[in-house]
Amino acid sequence: MNGVNEIRAAFLDFFRKHDHEIVASSPLVPRNDPTLMFTNAGMVQFKNLFTGIEKRPYSRASTAQKCVRAGGKHNDLDNVGYTARHHTFFEMLGNFSFGDYFKPVAIELAWKLITQVFDLPKDRLLVTVYHDDDEAFDLWKKIAGFPDSKIIRIATSDNFWAMGDTGPCGPCSEIFFDQGDKLFGGPPGSADEDGDRFLEFWNLVFMQYEQRGPGDRIALPKPSIDTGMGLERIAALLQGVTSNYDIDLMRTLILAVAQATGVDPDGPMRASHRVIADHLRASSFLIADGVLPSNEGRGYVLRRIMRRAMRHAQLLGAEEPLMWRLVPALTREMGQAYPELLRAEALVVETLRLEESRFRATLARGLSMLEEETRSLGEGGILSGEIAFRLYDTYGFPLDLTQDALRNRNLSVDTEGFTRAMERQRAEARKAWSGSGEAATDTHWFALREQLGPSEFLGYETEKAEAFVQALLQDGTRVDHLDAGQKGVLILNQTPFYGESGGQVGDTGHIIAPGMRFKVENTQKKLGDLFIHEGVVEEGSVTPGLEVRTLVDHQRRSAVRANHSATHLLHEALRQVLGDHVAQKGSLVTPERLRFDFSHPKPVTPEEWQKIEDIANRIILENAPVATTQMSIEDAMGSGARALFGEKYGEEVRVVSMGYDEEKATDPTEPLSPFSVELCGGTHVTRTGDIGLLTIVSEGPVAAGVRRIEAKTGSAARHHLNARANVLHTLLMQLKSPEEEAGKRLASLIEERRKLDRDLSDARKKLAMKGDGESTTTWREIDGIKFFPHVVTGVDMKDLKSLVDQAKQTIGSGVVAVIGVAEDGKASVVIGVTNDLIDRFDAVSLVRIAAEPLGGKGGGGRKDMAQAGGPNGQAAEASLAAVEAALHTVLAAS
Ligand code: SER
Repeated sequence: MNGVNEIRAAFLDFFRKHDHEIVASSPLVPRNDPTLMFTNAGMVQFKNLFTGIEKRPYSRASTAQKCVRAGGKHNDLDNVGYTARHHTFFEMLGNFSFGDYFKPVAIELAWKLITQVFDLPKDRLLVTVYHDDDEAFDLWKKIAGFPDSKIIRIATSDNFWAMGDTGPCGPCSEIFFDQGDKLFGGPPGSADEDGDRFLEFWNLVFMQYEQRGPGDRIALPKPSIDTGMGLERIAALLQGVTSNYDIDLMRTLILAVAQATGVDPDGPMRASHRVIADHLRASSFLIADGVLPSNEGRGYVLRRIMRRAMRHAQLLGAEEPLMWRLVPALTREMGQAYPELLRAEALVVETLRLEESRFRATLARGLSMLEEETRSLGEGGILSGEIAFRLYDTYGFPLDLTQDALRNRNLSVDTEGFTRAMERQRAEARKAWSGSGEAATDTHWFALREQLGPSEFLGYETEKAEAFVQALLQDGTRVDHLDAGQKGVLILNQTPFYGESGGQVGDTGHIIAPGMRFKVENTQKKLGDLFIHEGVVEEGSVTPGLEVRTLVDHQRRSAVRANHSATHLLHEALRQVLGDHVAQKGSLVTPERLRFDFSHPKPVTPEEWQKIEDIANRIILENAPVATTQMSIEDAMGSGARALFGEKYGEEVRVVSMGYDEEKATDPTEPLSPFSVELCGGTHVTRTGDIGLLTIVSEGPVAAGVRRIEAKTGSAARHHLNARANVLHTLLMQLKSPEEEAGKRLASLIEERRKLDRDLSDARKKLAMKGDGESTTTWREIDGIKFFPHVVTGVDMKDLKSLVDQAKQTIGSGVVAVIGVAEDGKASVVIGVTNDLIDRFDAVSLVRIAAEPLGGKGGGGRKDMAQAGGPNGQAAEASLAAVEAALHTVLAAS
């Protein structure tokens, strides 16, 4: 049970057996504490459980927590590699009680674990308690059977643990192991306590209070327990070694360094091996948790750690980038306990390789400048801050790298001079900005960005985080509060809200604090990295400095993620089916759908459409991991990543690849190349299967040579297809036909209908000529002229005319007047005059007379045939009578 992995497992197993919930390590970037740079203790993720703000279904928990102490208050970076205990990254084992058990059970469990499971000899153990904590003193006496001399009362803050200036705190009791007099050092509280002999390996904190501010301490709702055991320390004890760097896990990493460089790990370069082993862990775990090297904030701490390790790699004579080659050794050792490391392996490897190859280009030159500048300095000398700043500015040397490089020669740096030089440069940059002629509307963003620094984006890793409000704006002006009902903009120090860019819409959701609720209606990104949250205060008020919790609308973001990844698949599928000329001309990714514009000279055929959809869905069904890496723009282009022509990219770019391309595979021993590789800053699914399903909903032209395709994924795609299936189902029900015969059935129905129409029209005409019962009129003589008045129903205008023609033929010579009354009561009238009579009667004049009683006006046609209409069908007989009267008048006059 001696290996680090076994010790970790045994610890968790012990507490599992004692009814503790085993909770996974929280990420190194704390999501619930905006004031903390990195998670630095096991209790960080439980902070709000102690104070009672948050409730969970368990009241006992146990964890193995990854921790980083570098940057900020607990900065161990300087010492790392040179001492037996300092690390930037370490693991803390802990057990926690949230108002469940308190001191007696905590001490009992601790004693049982170390003496019965870990089998540490009792006579080598001793403890400290806070000076006035008689209860803990008595418990140790009773449970461990210690004599008074082994329970040391300490009055300093060493035995009163506090998370920070605010937060839960309480007296603590530390457990020590006496490694024997072969090592220098005295027991805790003695003058020599800093020596290595007495090793503190477990801290039991009796959480009782909450520090709310200076001098403001209240009792917690219930006394609780927080313990922290350094895994590397207990491993050293159990493995009988006196340095954390000699435990199995660290030794494996150190041997990997030795193997890669050929340098003796136990010789004079020992510290360099240790620095690299330690920094490899910190860098890899930070990258896996979403931190990328940059020149500010967390990213800069990471860069400092990486570059420090890289300088030591150079000291070991490594001629090529080294760190990335050590990653497999690390994942073998720790990947099982921390699967996030396995998932991010590609990202870690690429990020390390990129950083090291760029830094190597300036490292040697910087070091020789340093050599030159310090040649004249004697022991204890101080390097000017100006030079240290030039090393930083020109060669990318973080200050602590310069300090580390001078350490062996007992030289130091004028850090104040360094800071002054840095300030001066900032002031100059500010001046340059104001004259840079950037869009005037953006000037206030420049000022804000300069003052606040970039917002740290946490949204690749999480949708929930804590942050504090840096600034508030109303109508573009900074204000010191926003109240319920007011619209405005919030700027936070860090945020998981995605700011609209790259075609992907900005996130929405809520930003909350006790008594305050701000609805985020949109998130925008200004100047590349200043995130602004636009929305409205729904409740309470917001002021700068307020600690808030950010909640991205999860459903909406998930849909956006799926649509963004689907856009990449569609892009590649389009190229494969339509050809290499397909280039992205624009895209829009929303929760409802995705839109992709691309160059293509003609419509996509139904067969192509089907193929594109098939390819995209094949990759979705592969459920392949979606990998993100960080690369130089040149490497990314070299790898064939798709980029937008004309788009401005930074020197380092994020590359998103997904799926496997079986079609391109030729060598069975080589891994399959990815299906899609694109430069992209958007948020994506973890595996292609998360997209669920893709369906194209439309395709059409947008501009000359540019087509637009729209598609849906997941539930939206399913709803779309369901709606179409429902339409089909209804149609089939009405057709009363199975699906496969529906086409034939419909064609025959249409044919049948055509035939019926023809038959109906014929029948109506025949019927109309014979009289239909309502109208009994046939022709009659008026003063020697035949007059044929007729009223019909249900006959079309074109048929009315043919009826009039037929009637003209039947009577041979005379006047025909036929009125057709439609179902809605409207009337059409057609008047026919046989050719022999057109000198005496004019059909057009007659039809105008006929139209009047029908409520119509006018009418038109020729002398032998004219038509008109009117709304009053019920006046049909009156209309015919008016025509008859007109005939009489004409005849009487002639
Ligand atoms: N929070 C305490 C520590 O960090 C015990 O877990 O030491």
